Amino acid sequence: MAPQRELELSDAETQHCARMHDHLAAQIAAADGWLSFERFMDLALYAPGLGYYSAGAHKLGYGGDFTTAPEVSRLFGACVARQCAEVLSALGGGSILEIGAGSGRLAADILSRLESLGQLPAHYWILEISADLRDRQRRRLAQCLPHLLERISWLDQPPGNSFDGIVLANEVLDALPVTRFRWHLSRVEEFGVVIHEGRFVWRARAADHTVTEACERLAQAGGAWDEGYVSEFCPRLAAWTHGVTRALRAGAALWFDYGLPRSQYYLPERHEGTLMCHFRHRAHGDPFLYTGLQDITAWVDYTSLAEASRAAGFTLEGFTTQSHFLAGLEVDREMQAIAGDDANQFARLANQARQLMLPGEMGERFKAMAWLRGLQMPLSGFVLQDLRHTL
Ligand SMILES: C[S@@+](CC[C@H](N)C(=O)[O-])C[C@H]1O[C@@H](n2cnc3c(N)ncnc32)[C@H](O)[C@@H]1O
Repeated sequence: MAPQRELELSDAETQHCARMHDHLAAQIAAADGWLSFERFMDLALYAPGLGYYSAGAHKLGYGGDFTTAPEVSRLFGACVARQCAEVLSALGGGSILEIGAGSGRLAADILSRLESLGQLPAHYWILEISADLRDRQRRRLAQCLPHLLERISWLDQPPGNSFDGIVLANEVLDALPVTRFRWHLSRVEEFGVVIHEGRFVWRARAADHTVTEACERLAQAGGAWDEGYVSEFCPRLAAWTHGVTRALRAGAALWFDYGLPRSQYYLPERHEGTLMCHFRHRAHGDPFLYTGLQDITAWVDYTSLAEASRAAGFTLEGFTTQSHFLAGLEVDREMQAIAGDDANQFARLANQARQLMLPGEMGERFKAMAWLRGLQMPLSGFVLQDLRHTL
């Protein structure tokens, strides 16, 4: 479903889109007229000064392009904090690395709950690609937690020195660029982008050996795909997650995002894949609209993420729905602790909990996965429901 084209752009937005278009067109020309979609998505999101995540065009929360769990409610951060507290306590202390911290709300909620639990990390590092969001995070944390600022710092790359503690990311994996493919009974095609009459259009061509092999593996997991089945996979998931967790000597990596085990992701009926764009709270499937102004995402193949954990030397400790993760961490007690005797506040929190937990809202689409390294312990967020057998 494409959004209505009459969405009005400001002059600055129109100019930004035009600059992004010219940049992408130049890259397509430099690639002999055909640019893989994976590269296109990479540039549209991350091209320095122009990409959606690097240029500061994007907005989170109710007035922005999309809303995430921490923007819905501080209950999410409070529960993540309780999970972190368990790990930090087992380790006897440690640090936290958050990747892609958005508006800084999750960091603020985690830190303030950890403070009240008496379990503050030695350092809270934020690895954030967007300069604009770094500023926003800094402002928010300076305002909410000025006394904790000395523990918080921003990194340009994952820590170089090994540390004990936690690596966590909410809704970051879905932005890693994906390879889009089309399946035929006798061959595989990879989608790229070409320019036709001044506009970006899809153009499929024979996939190389690596993409073909990857698709054959996915087809085995998903079932009998019909001729013309279209989907995507994220070729850099393992390398990226390995890179950001490399310095973690002992502790946990916690991943939160929308996604599915591979056998469900690649079901024959999901024949158009999961690619989705977000612009001003409209979700649609056209990555060629509003380039540089809109988010482009794909669901996470959690089986790939589980494989990445083993390849990086972690134990896969848990995989569950967001709903069960929050319930396992006693979200009801968090509601009580925040609301106290304020019945109105409790009712507001109960509404937010419904949004985070109901199956038709964020409760089932969103999953949580935990990896452990140098540490063995049950994690409360993952004890109520164990979906690892589905991977
Ligand atoms: C969808 S937002 C989620 C923000 C926040 N985690 C939340 O839940 O509200 C994605 C965040 O990840 C950042 N980001 C995207 N790709 C990244 C990457 N490769 N490395 C670091 N940060 C990244 C974005 O700038 C943004 O802060």
